[in-house]
Amino acid sequence: MRKRFLAPFVLSALFFAACGGGQQNNSEQANSSATAGQEGAAVDSSMVSPGANAPVPKGQALIDEQDCKTCHKEDVKLVGPAYKDIAKKYESNDKNIETLADKVISGGSGNWGDVAMVPHPTLKKEDAREMVKYILSLK
Ligand code: HEC
Repeated sequence: MRKRFLAPFVLSALFFAACGGGQQNNSEQANSSATAGQEGAAVDSSMVSPGANAPVPKGQALIDEQDCKTCHKEDVKLVGPAYKDIAKKYESNDKNIETLADKVISGGSGNWGDVAMVPHPTLKKEDAREMVKYILSLK
């Protein structure tokens, strides 16, 4: 009597164990292939993202939206000094970034000659700072 009652439990326990084991294996395989996929993706993105992000820092993107390039180039003097010359002249610290951001907004002359930079009164201070940070990073 007892055996008959137990048998289905034992069988189903075995069945579930087998089943569970099988599922575990499957999910392990799924996991390991997912991990492999992620690793592949990680390698891919690590190869892509520096190239995708590095060439256009925020400050450069902002500069591209403005008229700066009509007077400035990265390494050649146009109407205004080359960005690289500006970077050489000023150390990239908070004080210089602040002063130069103000100068970009209010315009003016005197530091490089008599030619004045046009003011950019609509520029946000925050954006002007980003631009100057970018310029001063071009050493
Ligand atoms: C009309 C031409 C012109 C435009 C447009 C222009 N600049 Fe200038 N920029 C100048 C001139 C000229 C100077 C040199 C001013 C001086 O001698 O003090 C200068 C100087 C600068 C300096 C150095 C300031 C200093 O006191 O040493 C920075 C930084 C700068 N420009 C950034 C910018 C940015 C950013 C933009 C775009 C938002 C811009 N410029 C647009 C002509 C221009």
